[in-house]
Amino acid sequence: MTQFDPTKPSTTESGAPRQSDAHSLSVGADGPLLLHDVALVEKLARFDRERVPERSPHAKGSGAFGEFEVTQDVSKYTKAKFLQPGAKTTMLARFSTVAGELGSPDTWRDVRGFALKFYTEDGNFDMVGNNTPIFFVRDPMKFPDFIHSQKRTPDSGLRDNTMQWDFWTLSPESSHQVTYLMGDRGLPKTWRHMNGYSSHTYMWVNEAGEKFWVKYHFHTDQGMAFLSNEEAGRLAGEDSDYHRRDLFQAIERGEYPSWTMNVQIMPYEDAKDYRFNPFDLTKVWPHADYPLHEVGRFTLKENPKNHFAQIEQAAFSPANTVPGTGVSPDKMLLARVFSYPDAQRHRIGTNFNQLPVNAPVVPMNSYDKEGNMEYHHSGDAPVYAPNSYGRAWQEPQSPVDNGWEADGTLVRSAYTLHPEDDDFGQAHTLVREVFDDAARERLVETVSGSLSTVQEPVLSRAFQYWKNIDQEVGEAIERAVNTPKADSQPGGDPLDSETPAEQA
Ligand code: HEM
Repeated sequence: MTQFDPTKPSTTESGAPRQSDAHSLSVGADGPLLLHDVALVEKLARFDRERVPERSPHAKGSGAFGEFEVTQDVSKYTKAKFLQPGAKTTMLARFSTVAGELGSPDTWRDVRGFALKFYTEDGNFDMVGNNTPIFFVRDPMKFPDFIHSQKRTPDSGLRDNTMQWDFWTLSPESSHQVTYLMGDRGLPKTWRHMNGYSSHTYMWVNEAGEKFWVKYHFHTDQGMAFLSNEEAGRLAGEDSDYHRRDLFQAIERGEYPSWTMNVQIMPYEDAKDYRFNPFDLTKVWPHADYPLHEVGRFTLKENPKNHFAQIEQAAFSPANTVPGTGVSPDKMLLARVFSYPDAQRHRIGTNFNQLPVNAPVVPMNSYDKEGNMEYHHSGDAPVYAPNSYGRAWQEPQSPVDNGWEADGTLVRSAYTLHPEDDDFGQAHTLVREVFDDAARERLVETVSGSLSTVQEPVLSRAFQYWKNIDQEVGEAIERAVNTPKADSQPGGDPLDSETPAEQA
C-alpha cells in the first residue's frame, strides 16, 4: 500500500507536483481565485466527499484484526475448512452500538454489535451477531420500524423514551431482549468484557451430507463485566470513545483479547417438534436441551492502520457463508441476507467487495461487471454465460446440500406455534432464574428511570408488559415510577431519563 510521505513535496492526485499546500492561485495577492487552480479545486472537491454515509443501525463502532484457531474436532458436524481441527484463519472483528449515530457515546445503554469476518480459503465467512443471544422482533417486516423507534423523532430530532416503549409494548415478542437490554448486558464495561452470539440458528453440513442446526456463542476470555448507570453516564460525557479507545489501547499494550467459540448443535430432525420454534429469534435453546460444544478461539492482535479504510468501509454480511455452513428458515436471517449487501452497495459502492478489507483471500471469479469504482477487469474473457470459451460446465440440478424442505400456501402470518412458544416465558426465566436479587434491583432502577418521562397510554402498557414478564418486578417498577423522588428538581435526579445512559 502506498503511504503518504510527509518528508516529500505533495502532489496532485494524478501525481504531478503541487505548487503549494498553503496558497491558492489568485489574480494578484488580493485578487479573485481561478477555476484552473487544479490543486485547490481538487482539494476542496475531495474534502466535500470525505464522508460515506454512516451505517444505518450500528453506526458507531470499531474493531481489530486477529486469528481464529480451531482447538476441538467438530468435523463430524461440518465440512467447513476453516472449522477443521487445527485450522487457523485470519479474521476481523467490529463491535458497535445499535441506535446511536457515528459520534454517539460508546457507553449509552444499548445492545452491542459483534461482527466477525473470517477470510477462509473458501471465501469469506461472516458472523454478524450481537452481545445478546436473542432479538427484539421475529419478523423482518418490523425491523425498520424498530430501528426508527430507537433513533430520533421526526419533528424535534430528539430521542424519545415514549417512542421506544410504545414500539416495545406493542411488540410483546420484544420482552426477552428488552430484559437483557435493561439488565447488566445493556452496559458492558468494555467490548473486551462481553460475549457475542449468532442469535440466529444457522446450518452446518458434514462431508456425508448430514445437516445440523447450530447457534454460535463467543465467550469472552476476559470475563463479563459491566458499568453502572452512573459510571456509564459519567463516561458518556467525559470520553464518548471510551470503548473504542479501550480496545485500541489494550492491543497496543499487547493485551490481546480473546473469545472462545462454542456451538449448540441440534440434529436436523429435532427442529420439527422441539418445544420452542428453534428458528424464532426471540428464543434461546436451553443448554440443558442442547449443551455447548467448544470449537476454537479467536484473538485480536492487530489494530487498524486506517480506521476509515479498514473499519468504516468494512462490510459484514450474514449472506457470506462457505461450504459446510448455511442459513436457516429464520425469517429475520433470510431478510438480512438481502439487506446487508444492499446497504453496502449504497453505503460504500457497488464494488465494495473489491476493497482490501472486504476482498476474499481467494480469487473472485464472476460474470458480474462494472459499476462505480470497478477495479478488477476480466481482460478479453467473455462477460456472459453460457459461452464457448471456458471449460465444459455441467450445471447441477439437485437439492442444494445446505437447504431444507418447504411447501405450503403463500401467507402473511406468524410462525406455526410449537407447544411452548409464547412471548414472555423466557423473559420471566431470565428475570427470576438468571438474575439474582441485586440484578433484579438494578433492573427495576434502570427500567423505572427509563419510564420516568414516558407518556400515557404507553406508560400503563409498560407496567403491564413488565407484570406479564414478572408480576413482582412489574409492581416494583410501577411503584418506583409513581413514588415522587425527594430531590426531583429538574436535572437533579441521577436517574432522570434525560441523562444519556437512560436514553438508549
Ligand atoms: C448492521 C439490517 C437484524 C446485527 C446492519 C446494517 C443493516 C442491517 C442494513 C448496516 C450494514 C452496513 O451498512 O454495512 C438489518 C436487518 C435486520 C437486522 C434488515 C433484520 C431483519 C440484526 C440482528 C443482528 C444484527 C438480528 C444480530 C444478531 C448487526 C450488526 C451490524 C448490523 C452487528 C453492524 C455490522 C458492522 O459492524 O459493520 N443491520 N439488521 N442485525 N446489524 Fe443488522
